[in-house]
Amino acid sequence: MERALDHLMPMPVVVTPGEGALILNGLSFDVPTPRLQAALRRLLGRLENAGGLPLPILEEGQGTHFLMAVPAAVATYPMPDMDESYRLRIADDGVRLTAVSEVGALRGLQTLLQLFDCAEGSWRLPCCEIEDHPRFSWRGMLLDTSRHFMHKEHVLRLLDCMEVAKLNVLHFHLANDQGFRMECETFPKLHEEGSEGAYYTKEDMAEIIAFAADRGIRVVPEFCLPGHSVSWQVAYPALSASDDPPTRIGETRGAFSMPIDPSREETYAFIDKFVAEMAEVFPDPHFHTGGDEVNPTAWKENPRIRDFMEAQGFKRGRDLQAYFTGRYAALVAKHGKIPIGWEEVLHSDVPEDVIVHLWKDGAYAEGLARHPVLTSWNTYLDLQQPSDWLYGKDPLDFTINGDAPPEDLNMVGAEMTNWAETIHGGNLDMRTWPRGGAIAERFWSPRSYCDERGADTLYARLDVFERHLTAAGSRHQGHAARACVELFESAGEETLGRFADLVEPAAYPFLRRRRLLLERMLPRLFPAPDVERYSDMRRFVDHLPAESMIGREFRVDVFAFSKTGDPDLARTIAERLLVWDVLAKEVQTLACQNSAMRSDGLDRLASGLGRIARIGSSCLRALQKGRSLSPLRAWWYQQRLRTYAYEIFYLDKDVLQRVIRDLRKPDVLNRHNIAILPGVAHLLEMASGERH
Ligand code: ACM
Repeated sequence: MERALDHLMPMPVVVTPGEGALILNGLSFDVPTPRLQAALRRLLGRLENAGGLPLPILEEGQGTHFLMAVPAAVATYPMPDMDESYRLRIADDGVRLTAVSEVGALRGLQTLLQLFDCAEGSWRLPCCEIEDHPRFSWRGMLLDTSRHFMHKEHVLRLLDCMEVAKLNVLHFHLANDQGFRMECETFPKLHEEGSEGAYYTKEDMAEIIAFAADRGIRVVPEFCLPGHSVSWQVAYPALSASDDPPTRIGETRGAFSMPIDPSREETYAFIDKFVAEMAEVFPDPHFHTGGDEVNPTAWKENPRIRDFMEAQGFKRGRDLQAYFTGRYAALVAKHGKIPIGWEEVLHSDVPEDVIVHLWKDGAYAEGLARHPVLTSWNTYLDLQQPSDWLYGKDPLDFTINGDAPPEDLNMVGAEMTNWAETIHGGNLDMRTWPRGGAIAERFWSPRSYCDERGADTLYARLDVFERHLTAAGSRHQGHAARACVELFESAGEETLGRFADLVEPAAYPFLRRRRLLLERMLPRLFPAPDVERYSDMRRFVDHLPAESMIGREFRVDVFAFSKTGDPDLARTIAERLLVWDVLAKEVQTLACQNSAMRSDGLDRLASGLGRIARIGSSCLRALQKGRSLSPLRAWWYQQRLRTYAYEIFYLDKDVLQRVIRDLRKPDVLNRHNIAILPGVAHLLEMASGERH
């Protein structure tokens, strides 16, 4: 039972283990509000999903007593200042959950759920006392529904899982170049012409908001302007900064798009009416105005806008953007909402009450400290970084004037992002979980815990956390195998699933740096490989988890072996390498008969897996015999492994050399990591006599 307390995620502030366990025959409860009663029913359903054993509800006095003490009146919509603290006491005489608010009780219920253990035919709970409250009061998840639309069912499932992770804000990114996803009665062409028919009706949105509220989650909409606004301009060309406005959504996928025209009064009359309508749809007091990645070229090229800038004394596009931000923010405030803008809105002319949302630079001038701050710096799930990397970044690690943020900075909170260039409803769970749990813990648990004990135990706890997500409906587990069957119309589900478990997408920052360098160096010879941009989701790479747990475990085992020389561990490693070599041959056989697999490079990847596994076996054999590889053989293996270099995030000092070398590689080997490579590279170093 100690285990359950050790595996909580996010870890509560204070956990005091007690003596023994409470064995439950059923539950008799005393639950004060309909929302909490529904939450408890959800909990019972999940227990049954997870353990296969129901926990019956019994008459008062017959089952284990569960008391929820929640004095505050019921709020219909969770608010930013909601009190999420709770206390949980599990003892011989039952369970007592105390909270100031309904939302606090919801958080406590999630902790309670993680403590249930099914053993010897009954449910049991460890006796303990827990006191808990969040580090940040705003713990969000951005969901981009423009690049790829996410059906309502996918959003609801995400909300269920967000509740497990104790996240409390769905930042709903509803409009971008590739689609306008919200019904608007005042300007119906926005959803009619800006969305290819895929958008949320007001009824859908009301259902999503109510569903979220039942889980203590707020819904903050983002309607990004003046950039990233092709879908608005397709619907209402008069908004455009160009006299030749875009006519199709998504025409500028991946590139900085044409902004709207901030110089015309008609633009603000439009925004005024638009915000008035949306302010009614979304009960949250906050409203995200976007403002990132504005391309000012069109402003400077348009004589009307140029004249306006001159008349106003604006020298740079940034000055005009600040004027626009001020006016958009004022309209948002007029309709009773608090405006938020991405970090590009920072400018001395922008009102101080605009919340600045960090995402890019991580180093800011003192102007930032005038504003309330929300941060998504280093928390981009879509960049495919592994859990320990994401977990290692603290939301307060950015700097202001080179220093840590001042104590009195108005830190609103933090959000992780799910930008959707390579995500749709189908792979959303797999791309979000379990990594999102690592970030969510950073947002909830004390920094001191995350920096030390939390980091040491992260993967063991994520392993348990995943099961709670699955019980809550997440379909991340087994996703790749299911997707491969569909992509390749192949019967080899089991084989492809095991293969996909060993391959990762190369992280986006690597791919992007590589592309930019190539474009700059040799633009004609090397047109941008269409790797990291918008995907039709028909590629193998789109269905791979960012992080191969098997690759990681293998690395951990090899490191342990290098320290201990344990012969049993050596045998386990040898067996695995053999299994992977066989698996590689099976995939190659499947790919021989399947042109879709070949055109997606699975034959090359499988051949790489086999080669790497055989190099690993050869090195291990040498080590087991207490020998070193000959220098020539070691050199040859090293060259071989380089072909499959494992690209994690950032190209380092030998940037040019690596880019040039990578030009010789088939692109498929740049787009994927074969996840056993770092472990095998370590074996090679050991066998070459470089490590002992
Ligand atoms: C952003 O990622 N452009 C906010």
